[in-house]
Amino acid sequence: MEIDLEVLCEKVTGLARETGKFIYAESKNFDRSKIEHKGNSDLVSYVDKESEKRLVKELSVLFPQAGFITEESTVAREDKEYKWVIDPLDGTTNFLHGLPPFSISIALLRAETILLGVVYEVNLDECFYAWKNGGAWKNGERIAVSPVKKLKDALVASGFPYSQLNKSDNHFRTLQYLQDNSHGIRRLGSAAVDLSYVACGRFEAYYEFNLNIWDIAAGILIVQEAKGSVCDFSGGNDFLHGKEVLAAGSIKNEMLQIIQKFW
Ligand code: IPD
Ligand code: CA
Ligand code: CA
Repeated sequence: MEIDLEVLCEKVTGLARETGKFIYAESKNFDRSKIEHKGNSDLVSYVDKESEKRLVKELSVLFPQAGFITEESTVAREDKEYKWVIDPLDGTTNFLHGLPPFSISIALLRAETILLGVVYEVNLDECFYAWKNGGAWKNGERIAVSPVKKLKDALVASGFPYSQLNKSDNHFRTLQYLQDNSHGIRRLGSAAVDLSYVACGRFEAYYEFNLNIWDIAAGILIVQEAKGSVCDFSGGNDFLHGKEVLAAGSIKNEMLQIIQKFW
């Protein structure tokens, strides 16, 4: 089947923007008594679920051949050749506390190949997107990773997982080294936004462990199409399911050496 990925991507950005309006409106008067717990610090709300339902409904019409992998499981997973991979609200904890950024992340996969990715950051109204071999874009303009070549001139992002805290020591040692040897560390709270910010050169690198495919699938393609590199902590390709992701521009090898030293 021949798919016009550029046309499909444009329609998906439209859907993300539409659903983003709903999320933004809800963020203005969210009542914290509506927070639900999936785990100790793993939070969710009706906004995540409603956003997912809206996206699933529209994407089913747009490309009925595809199945779904979604964070909130409002639709059954089916083993289909094409799959939409959706995080309907990435940065839920930020959203619940009235803090930016938070985003919608949508990717289309054919088997394990990411065909298109859309990340819409709701607060700054920034839509990052890419389709395979079509370059990476932000609100209609081409984006590229940072040309900075040394960690000492770099800003690095990471995150803290909701579980697997047994890795904390390795993580904090890595962060300490990076803090002492770069422009600094940022923890934004939305993996999809972290990846998008690597793609447009705001961050020189981003790494995190224990993420799920819906957090990263769209952002990974956006980084790759922005001429960045994505790998796991061994420098290999097991980043979609392997719970380790490093995305960077020119400082990728330096970052990899540091992660491997402390991990
Ligand atoms: C979370 C965010 C966060 C990352 C967490 C994710 P959620 O996703 O991407 O940046 O550190 O591990 O689970 O729960 O807000 O969709
Ligand atoms: Ca997420
Ligand atoms: Ca989420």
